Amino acid sequence: MRGKISIIGAGNVGATCAFSIAEKGYADIVLLDIIEGLPQGKGLDMLEATPIIDSDVEIMGTNDYKETANSDIVIITSGVARKPGMSRDDLVLTNMKIVREVTEKVVQHSPNCIIVVVSNPLDAMTQLSLHISKFPRNRVFGQSGILDSARFRTFIAQELNVSVKNVSTCVLGGHGDTMVPVTRLCTVGGVPITELLPEEEINSLVERTVKGGGEIVNLLKTGSAFYAPATATAQMVNAIILDKKEILPCAAYLEGEYGINGVVVGVPVKLGKNGIEQIIELKLTPEEGAALKKSANAVRELIDIMNL
Ligand code: 2OP
Repeated sequence: MRGKISIIGAGNVGATCAFSIAEKGYADIVLLDIIEGLPQGKGLDMLEATPIIDSDVEIMGTNDYKETANSDIVIITSGVARKPGMSRDDLVLTNMKIVREVTEKVVQHSPNCIIVVVSNPLDAMTQLSLHISKFPRNRVFGQSGILDSARFRTFIAQELNVSVKNVSTCVLGGHGDTMVPVTRLCTVGGVPITELLPEEEINSLVERTVKGGGEIVNLLKTGSAFYAPATATAQMVNAIILDKKEILPCAAYLEGEYGINGVVVGVPVKLGKNGIEQIIELKLTPEEGAALKKSANAVRELIDIMNL
């Protein structure tokens, strides 16, 4: 039987994510937005593409949360995107109101769903959604680490002129300026990048990764990245729906892991049909551990602003 996935927010990330999932053919999709006609139009357009992409899924657009009832997974992409010169954290006061309201409605109609948060500032919005939903932490988590890791993989692959498939990266921490690319654990065909690139070169790729979202915002001028964020979200959905037990970096609520308690931050997790089935605790050096704690503290500042 096909699953049911609802995507809240029919903007660039929501719609691209919907189409990416539709191509897989394993779940019906409800695309919801408050703007009348927008989700209906995009949903119908995607549905009309299903004969071409050879997918039998149902795709519908709506403004009514009733249509999302009993979803297996709900993806929250709602909220405003930053403009050039803004940080993701500048969005907290605007997006907290939106994500709060969206989560309340999602929970009302799909009390057993898994929520994947994509709205920014990512870690804080994930924690807000977890708090409002009162779901266990395995069922509310955020997308960011796959995106940040993919950016780092892309830049390393370009630099070394190798396939992106051969590059494996590890990016921990919050989805912001304090994220922690752990270069010691990044490899190309199994070889540590520290053996393949000089330190200054690695540092400049790290810098570009940390500022990767801003680089796209500055180019687009009227919005933020969506192809990579949306496909990163779809990868999480795949892992859950297909019960892949895939190890992926996700924004998860920590309860003592990595010495961090009561805050959402990016760490590797095992994703399967129950959502987060395990939080993987890597052995970090004291410097890496300190950088992760610093990143968690930056998230905590936003949590305090939201009075959670
Ligand atoms: C990014 O990093 C939008 O946060 C997203 O591009």
